[in-house]
Amino acid sequence: MRRIVVLTGAGISQESGLQTFRGADGLWNNEHIEHICTPQGFRRDPLRVDRFYNDLRARLPAAQPNAAHLALAAVEQAARSGRWQGQLTIVTQNIDDLHERAGSQDVIHMHGELLRLRCTRCGMTPVWRTDCYPDTPCPACHAPTLRPDIVWFGEMPYHMDIIEKRLAECDLFVAIGTSGVVYPAAGFVDSVAAHADTMLFNLEAPSGPAPFDQTILGPATHTVPAWTRDLLEG
Ligand code: APR
Repeated sequence: MRRIVVLTGAGISQESGLQTFRGADGLWNNEHIEHICTPQGFRRDPLRVDRFYNDLRARLPAAQPNAAHLALAAVEQAARSGRWQGQLTIVTQNIDDLHERAGSQDVIHMHGELLRLRCTRCGMTPVWRTDCYPDTPCPACHAPTLRPDIVWFGEMPYHMDIIEKRLAECDLFVAIGTSGVVYPAAGFVDSVAAHADTMLFNLEAPSGPAPFDQTILGPATHTVPAWTRDLLEG
């Protein structure tokens, strides 16, 4: 029984029209991470942060899952139908819902989700598809204490217990479309190297020595379906 963990980053959604964070037209070229993606930045100027995520949220419906998202979902579907003996878990750094819209169910959002808010007063995490502002009342406790349910720099990523369990059990670790500069995700490959094979699918070669057994360069919509076809044909 194959146990595969796939870590995805912004690069897997790039061909769906969603901007990556770094690189040519990366989101962090126009915004300062400390203003947008830290609790301090939110405390200092919540409206600026809400507007940034409102803009990303408004762009999401027009983006469609691409061939790479669909290829991963097809592997999970083959496992569910018994056509393939294995388990494929997606651990995503992405806050979009393209894996789910492609049909994947075993998806762990370690950096949170764009389509969810979190009330800092009562803890409720409502699904949210429209704009949110500093005075938007929480649907549960009605206090104006909602924030994006996104993990910002300096905060603990979500679901690390189940992620670490799946990493410890896997025999193959695959990273797709991630620059490998943000921890703890960037350290996953080292944590599995002793017991699993590792593969990186990326557009560009990573800066510095890539600790992966294999590096497959190219657009994810080409490289990932080719890999999953081989995987399912076993
Ligand atoms: N196919 C494959 N890889 C691609 C493609 C593509 N079509 N387009 C871009 N890439 C690659 C880039 O070469 C780059 O290495 O995807 C990677 C995207 O890197 P980042 O923009 O840094 O995104 P990511 O690695 O997901 O960022 C990690 O940083 O800002 C935080 O929380 C944010 O989750 C994010 C984290």
